Amino acid sequence: MINESLIQRTEIFVQEFLKHDATGHDWWHIHRVNEIAKRLATEEGADPLIVELAALLHDVADHKLNDGDEQKGMSRVEDFLRAERLGEEVIQAVLKVIREVSYKGAGVPTPVTSIESAVVQDADRLDAMGAVGIARMFTFGGAKGRAMFDPNIPPVDHHNEDMYRNAKSTTFNHFHEKLLLLKDRMNTAGARRIAEGRHQYMAEFMQRFKKEWEGLS
Ligand code: ADP
Ligand code: NI
Repeated sequence: MINESLIQRTEIFVQEFLKHDATGHDWWHIHRVNEIAKRLATEEGADPLIVELAALLHDVADHKLNDGDEQKGMSRVEDFLRAERLGEEVIQAVLKVIREVSYKGAGVPTPVTSIESAVVQDADRLDAMGAVGIARMFTFGGAKGRAMFDPNIPPVDHHNEDMYRNAKSTTFNHFHEKLLLLKDRMNTAGARRIAEGRHQYMAEFMQRFKKEWEGLS
């Protein structure tokens, strides 16, 4: 049985930390990731406590929310888990999942080393796909002041995380730089199934967008 009051305190901690975010890392992103992660965890037989804590805390460590310093973010998560007096094994397992979750660019592998990491990484990536993924993408692009689309600017093939974070590109290019690549990077069968439908929807959206751009529909 998962300790419900621990989960509630974790939720409050995360809500407080993310309340000013306008780049798609808001509380509702965490909520959606957590819901899907819990389902995948049941299907995969992953440890439910590790999965839920990691899903809830994964963006507290995000470098975008820690002045570009990922280590600072990891310490923030670790301090929270220690204050909750969780066992060393649980703490290390949660931190490992969080370290492995993030997308780092088109050509950058992001291997997972536990079933709990596999599940949380899949859940986080599913939330970057489909209708919600498209909405998050344009929200992020708007917050960064990026051009929505420019037919003269090609997508970037990132070779490292720095390129992924800093290369000049348009918001629409993010489809090619990340969103369309996610379907084939899912770890679990359940996530692959969900990704299929979300991918299809994004492909249709892109076709329609291009047609409207040319004034053809
Ligand atoms: P994570 O792997 O932790 O989800 P990302 O920073 O890749 O981290 O993604 C966070 C959200 O912001 C996702 O919805 C993602 O698609 C979106 N995003 C990230 N970079 C861009 C970008 N350059 N343009 C548009 N959306 C982006
Ligand atoms: Ni996330």
